[in-house]
Amino acid sequence: MNITIFGAGYVGLVTGGCFAEMGNSVVCVEVDAERVAGLQAGRTPIFEPGLDTLIRTNLAAERMRFTTSTEEGIEHGRVLFIAVGTPAQEDGSADLNAVLAVANQVGRRMKTAKIIVDKSTVPVGTADQVRATVAAALQERGLSLDFDVVANPEFLKEGAAVNDFMRPDRIIIGASRDDSRAILERLYEPFVRNRDKFVHMSERSAELAKYAANAMLAARISLVNELAGIADQVGADIEAVRRGIGRDPRIGTHFLYAGAGYGGTCFPKDIKALIHTADSLGVATQMLQAVEAVNGRQKGVLVRKMQRHYGSGLAGKTLALWGLAFKPNTDDMREAPSLVVVEALLDAGAKVQAYDPVASPAAEGVFGGKVKLCRTRYEAVADADGLVILTEWNEFRTPNFQRLRTTMKEPVIFDGRNLYDPAYLAGLGFVYHSIGRPALPASKLAHG
Ligand SMILES: NC(=O)c1ccc[n+]([C@@H]2O[C@H](COP(=O)([O-])OP(=O)(O)OC[C@H]3O[C@@H](n4cnc5c(N)ncnc54)[C@H](O)[C@@H]3O)[C@@H](O)[C@H]2O)c1
Repeated sequence: MNITIFGAGYVGLVTGGCFAEMGNSVVCVEVDAERVAGLQAGRTPIFEPGLDTLIRTNLAAERMRFTTSTEEGIEHGRVLFIAVGTPAQEDGSADLNAVLAVANQVGRRMKTAKIIVDKSTVPVGTADQVRATVAAALQERGLSLDFDVVANPEFLKEGAAVNDFMRPDRIIIGASRDDSRAILERLYEPFVRNRDKFVHMSERSAELAKYAANAMLAARISLVNELAGIADQVGADIEAVRRGIGRDPRIGTHFLYAGAGYGGTCFPKDIKALIHTADSLGVATQMLQAVEAVNGRQKGVLVRKMQRHYGSGLAGKTLALWGLAFKPNTDDMREAPSLVVVEALLDAGAKVQAYDPVASPAAEGVFGGKVKLCRTRYEAVADADGLVILTEWNEFRTPNFQRLRTTMKEPVIFDGRNLYDPAYLAGLGFVYHSIGRPALPASKLAHG
């Protein structure tokens, strides 16, 4: 099938690459000309496992191409996917400018019947707005061409996006027309051997389902982080608590890890947008507001632990930072806890030496010259007064602790991802602060 994707970001590239891999002919329309030139030359602008190969293979097979021309894209696709950004605005609402700009272009340029599929995360009622925008543009041209708008939210996780798209646990199709439903099912069939994975509903329910999923997941994280705060004070171990409750099938084991707060593009902006939608309708949102507030506080938890540890203040201290991306296997730093920690450390007069396996180029743009970006994890800890861990990259799980101890000025670790065993670290002579677990005194023996 001929498909067009608007937006060559995390969602657009993965969607386009995966559909092309299944034999479809895909055109990706992107407003950023530099990005298009790079992609066309085989350079993938983001880090996502498997994506680079997927794009190169399908470019070479001529099943995929990139363009800045909306005209070319609209002409090409029977199905037009919208995968542009919907960032939070000042008041928390989702910015629909890019989505509606695409809808307007489609209405102004389409010559044959189209199915417009919204994959961007958008507030309830956006499918209706897209429909009205396309209809208005068609009316201006004095045309009445057939088109439909379908809400098809995306649930991929950055860091595992290609795999998630290839093996989805469900595909939500919010459509009111049988023919649109059938075409969407045909497109997705190669990814789902088990047809039970299609979940059909109205456009509005599909739009809300996406926000509901993120709200549920964010709520779990904030709740476990709040419990970790209690564990910290009462001398309990949140990791033991997690294992104790996760085996209850009503609770389950996923998304039950205490940490330095959630980040990324989705949870923070989607919770804000959902609160905004509810507010505008007079619906109370105590839970959602608490989820957001707890997360905002949690992003500062390591800074508070550092302030307590150093007592005399952070001015003049050198802190090593391991992990800048908001989670492993991505270079995405948007809303990452690292941003809050770095800002607080710099404000307090500390020096920051950071290392991330893939997010350093992204970090350069964010921090400028204010943070020293290191090429290895050991370079980052050189003469550091402490090590702060913010992303659970695999290479941080088993470092050479002996080397760390001899490279660092003071063997102190502030672990925002609970990667290590506190007793083991204490035995090696580290002062180890983690989330929701008692900090044990470092063994005197190891210091000797
Ligand atoms: N990133 C995720 O993990 C994820 C997961 C599920 C859903 N979503 C949702 O999908 C949407 C896209 O997210 P993303 O992370 O891929 O965003 P992104 O910022 O990585 O990419 C969006 C791309 O769209 C381009 N763009 C903007 N206006 C355009 C236009 N008029 N025509 C063509 N291209 C245009 C931008 O230049 C950018 O490259 C958002 O609504 C997001 O909430 C994201």
